[in-house]
Amino acid sequence: MNKIAPAINDKPNTEPAGSESIRECIRTASELVRKRSEAAGRKLSYHVTTFGCQMNARDSEKLSGILEECGYIYEEDELSADVVIYNTCTVRDNANQRFFGHLGSIGAVKRKRSGMIIGVCGCLSQEVTAREKILKSFPFVDIVFGTHNVFDLASLLVKALSRDPSEKSHAVTEIWDGTDMIVEDVPVKRNYRFKSGVNIMFGCDNFCSYCIVPYVRGRERSRRSEDIIEEIKRLSDDGVVEVMLLGQNVNSYGKGLDEDIDFAKLLGMVEKVDGIERIRFMTSHPKDLSDELIEVMAASDKICRHIHLPLQSGSSRILESMNRHYTKEQYIELAGRIRERVDGISVTTDIMVGYPGETEKDIDDTIDVIEKVGFDGAFTFIYSKRAGTKAAAMPDQVSDEFVKESFDRVLKKVQDVSTRQAKKIEGRIMDVLVEDINRQDPHLVTGRLSNNLTVHFPGDSSLIGKIVDVKLSSCKGFYYIGEKI
Ligand code: 5AD
Ligand code: SF4
Repeated sequence: MNKIAPAINDKPNTEPAGSESIRECIRTASELVRKRSEAAGRKLSYHVTTFGCQMNARDSEKLSGILEECGYIYEEDELSADVVIYNTCTVRDNANQRFFGHLGSIGAVKRKRSGMIIGVCGCLSQEVTAREKILKSFPFVDIVFGTHNVFDLASLLVKALSRDPSEKSHAVTEIWDGTDMIVEDVPVKRNYRFKSGVNIMFGCDNFCSYCIVPYVRGRERSRRSEDIIEEIKRLSDDGVVEVMLLGQNVNSYGKGLDEDIDFAKLLGMVEKVDGIERIRFMTSHPKDLSDELIEVMAASDKICRHIHLPLQSGSSRILESMNRHYTKEQYIELAGRIRERVDGISVTTDIMVGYPGETEKDIDDTIDVIEKVGFDGAFTFIYSKRAGTKAAAMPDQVSDEFVKESFDRVLKKVQDVSTRQAKKIEGRIMDVLVEDINRQDPHLVTGRLSNNLTVHFPGDSSLIGKIVDVKLSSCKGFYYIGEKI
């Protein structure tokens, strides 16, 4: 078994890296970028490629923010940019393999463009074996940094830009094993002007037996409510109408803070911010979901009618082995209670198939929960063995054949149930936040209902960022075709 070994620069948690030192590094980096840009006779560009979850998407907005402040401009085409940063995910092994394939192909591009800088950050670089592979097999990578070092990109750039390009040198690396530091005021370049993720906590302490996240994202730590509310007020002043509060387990928000706060109370505070019209959050753990939270949701006009509540498995025996701290019956009861109290809420979930020791009977239980809860949507995953986790050492890994068959059964059930759910609101008029021009048909716009389902309807770019009433004329399974009223 591969152990998750200590990181390269295992820093103590006391480093006072506040916004001032970030600004200082940005000033130095801008000077170097300006010189290179003058020599090239054009502006230098960047591209950040993101893999994985909403947390990574938010980190990428910070990386882009720092790069823009350093003087780089955004370049849509990854292969043409002067700086390319890969923000990686390592939750499942197939994502790792895909990323290594991708990284290999960019090496050929870099050989033709000597000034190009390539950085790798995110969860994959926290894993010792993966990181060693990057450093050894992809020597053209210039910067490798971890999930705790996103704020530090400008200082890493300074080091990379100061190197003599004619000398063969090792990548600049900065990977902390863990931290309890939270760096505020990192520059951000948002992907959308009208909606934004907001980190409310970092890390995870749950150690579900299959999951690598606690090892790569570190111990759970919450941001102070004052800092969160300040950030949301600034976002609102800047035109944001929808916020997504982000954490691996938002229901345990507040633990360890020096204030009388929990997630339900925080939501109450966010509700009071003028200009914010929709509030979402991700992800909830069923074991920590309180009655207070359900009541706050039920009473709110702003909190969206959607909860993502990862089930993982419907079998109590498997759930116990997974260290999830709830049973099949408790999950069904909880989902029922939420549906009963919060009118029109959609319940979505994550389900995993192929966990060690899983049998047909366990899959039957999962299918039974899908039916009983009536999920409005589900992400279904094949269990992936992650080195260093408890489940990776379990003896009875299941056969590929069983996994394939079970996965198909689960997926079919999810599709049937979620289509049935979506049909229930066909024909209704509901409010939609318009997000984009439709990718396939430029005469349509794409928006989201409060319950998180997608609607496409005729419209133009003037609607983007607005909340409008739309008739859900036709349900197409997991999305609708509508018309603006
Ligand atoms: N294999 C497959 N899926 C996993 N997830 C987490 N770890 C693994 C793994 N080892 C899934 C869980 C989680 C989602 C984000 O990813 O379902 O909720
Ligand atoms: Fe992983 Fe469990 Fe933490 Fe979610 S709650 S990030 S599944 S350990």
